[in-house]
Amino acid sequence: MLTANRNAQRADYPPRLKAMLNMQMVQQCWQQLKSWPLINPLQTPIWDMPNTATALGVGALWIKDESKRSSLDSFKALGAPNALVNLIKKHHPELHSERILQGEYCDLLASFSVITATDGNHGRALAAAAQSAGCPCTIVLHAHVSQEREDAIAKYGANIVRVSGNYDDSVREAKQLANMNGWTVVSDTSYDGYQTIPLDVMQGYAVIAMEAMVQCPAPPTHVILQGGVGALAAGVASYYWEHHGAHRPTMIVAEPTQADCLFQSAIAGQPMAATGSVDSFMAGLACGETSPIAWAFMAESIDYFALIEDSDAEQAVRQLAQGSHGDMPIVAGESGVAGLALLNRCAMLGNLGDMGIDDQSRVLIINTEGATAKGIFEGVTGTTVAEILHNQAQGAL
Ligand SMILES: Cc1ncc(COP(=O)(O)O)c(C=O)c1O
Repeated sequence: MLTANRNAQRADYPPRLKAMLNMQMVQQCWQQLKSWPLINPLQTPIWDMPNTATALGVGALWIKDESKRSSLDSFKALGAPNALVNLIKKHHPELHSERILQGEYCDLLASFSVITATDGNHGRALAAAAQSAGCPCTIVLHAHVSQEREDAIAKYGANIVRVSGNYDDSVREAKQLANMNGWTVVSDTSYDGYQTIPLDVMQGYAVIAMEAMVQCPAPPTHVILQGGVGALAAGVASYYWEHHGAHRPTMIVAEPTQADCLFQSAIAGQPMAATGSVDSFMAGLACGETSPIAWAFMAESIDYFALIEDSDAEQAVRQLAQGSHGDMPIVAGESGVAGLALLNRCAMLGNLGDMGIDDQSRVLIINTEGATAKGIFEGVTGTTVAEILHNQAQGAL
């Protein structure tokens, strides 16, 4: 299902948004992140997918591959770590930003406790960054987060708390624990009176756009972003908007039918909750509530909101793993494939044209995660991550 955002604008990036998030801040953010031993100091690759583009009937298809961002296997390595560094700097302005994640101030930060709720990737990134900086970290998980994802977080020394319910219940629990213990919440989603940290998270995600801007052989006409609470879409869209102004690409957000909070927000013209069960194969996108600060950026910059099914995502995971139509094989997890899942669905239904996509379009999608739940990934693809990476290396020769 697809809805056009009636409030989308073709105008310059507004000063009120620029004051909160701008390209210069994104540049600075990368400066302080790139010396983190866990992050890839190079740009993540953009794969050209010419055969898949032809099969879909689009001019060009590019996939920016965030599975290569760090050993954490997802774009989230850009968000929570940036927010943590900024938070620490606020309390200790005398510290060097670039050295915080190198662990130079572990003794000083031994009682600087942080906490977050997560459906997996954000918590894993915070746990890893906190461990690097020397901060105690607690991660709150809801009932649908797999044991495999919990183990991947616990590996970074975080204290794990489980709650029943869904992502939004875990957000509330994290807030309560923080209040009781005097810890700081490092959340990717905002709420009343809490937006500085989610903004810092969005700032980190915008690094993806900063890199893609120079990597794509021509500016994309369309960018498809997957939506959970909306921080990724807001961060990336803001960068394109500021850079291209009224000539920005058409921006599209895809999310699971069961977790349609952004789709509902577009219809209502304000941040809304999801109408579905908020449980999805696309675990990272299974969010029931829109982040209000993310919505402030998306309200006018996202042109279309679309819903996809779990079966679309499952098929796209297999398709990329096999090497889609003979293109480069890619390790793309359940939430990473949302852009391709949407393109496939629309091509099948014959409604790509409803978003202005045709054989002249240059479409950029983002693989936001690799095999962050390896068991699920290998079960779905029937192959191993090592095998796909081997095939990828052969293809790159
Ligand atoms: C792999 C992956 N992609 C996309 C998203 C969506 O990001 P956001 O919640 O900022 O919309 C998430 C969120 O957890 C994720 O884990």
